[in-house]
Amino acid sequence: MFADLFDHPDVAVAETDDPRETPLPPEEAAAVEGAAEKRRREFAAGRSCARLALGELGLSDAIIPRNPDRTPAWPDGMVGSISHTSGHCAAAVARDRRIVAVGIDVEGRTPLKDGIVRRICSEDERAHLAALGDHPVEVWAKLVFSAKESFFKAYFPREHVGLGFREAEVEIDPAGEGFRLCMCNEDKPALAGRREVTGRFAFGPAHVFTAILVEAR
Ligand SMILES: CC(C)(COP(=O)(O)OP(=O)(O)OC[C@H]1O[C@@H](n2cnc3c(N)ncnc32)[C@H](O)[C@@H]1OP(=O)(O)O)[C@@H](O)C(=O)NCCC(=O)NCCS
Repeated sequence: MFADLFDHPDVAVAETDDPRETPLPPEEAAAVEGAAEKRRREFAAGRSCARLALGELGLSDAIIPRNPDRTPAWPDGMVGSISHTSGHCAAAVARDRRIVAVGIDVEGRTPLKDGIVRRICSEDERAHLAALGDHPVEVWAKLVFSAKESFFKAYFPREHVGLGFREAEVEIDPAGEGFRLCMCNEDKPALAGRREVTGRFAFGPAHVFTAILVEAR
């Protein structure tokens, strides 16, 4: 799914609908020592996808430890993003000469609860979602949630600054299966000089997928 969303020669993607616990090199295993079985499985599946994707770009058997801030420690010269949820796991990677940042997110295709919708989406965003049709606002809101998480995964490893859900606004283009995300808090640093990025999305039978790619200028 993410390969279709990126459709870009400089981005490699690996994903699976059957995330499994696979053996990890010790540098990676340390991150989930003592963790619950579900967490070990998703972590291992994410690392396995990341290794496959890096292999496509010529880096075989890469080791991807976890940084103290919980981001993956990608090999020098690479950027990437990992996402996992029940029934899906994916990693996307690229060389940082051409691609400044990548963010992916997969979520279950379930509606967000009303109270959460209000925490994630501004009044303007909620009005925009209500006007889209096709799906209930709470399902579109799940897509907005995912788009903001994808953005955060692209943003944080580069800018090292936290970002709340209401510090960005998303506008969805249902026909183009795309979205635009604007950072609305001017006090926060932009992502590599950009306050606005575009992304792609897809609805699968059980999942919502979002992807953001920021190319070098
Ligand atoms: C970090 C976060 C985005 C992860 O999303 P999630 O839906 O909970 O989980 P996912 O499975 O999709 O992604 C988890 C992966 O994200 C990566 N990750 C974790 N922290 C990260 C960070 N600070 N920055 C970038 N990537 C991060 C890791 O690879 C992790 O998997 P791993 O631990 O197995 O390596 C989320 O937990 C979070 O903190 N969100 C709040 C911040 C936010 O999204 N703000 C919106 C701003 S507009």
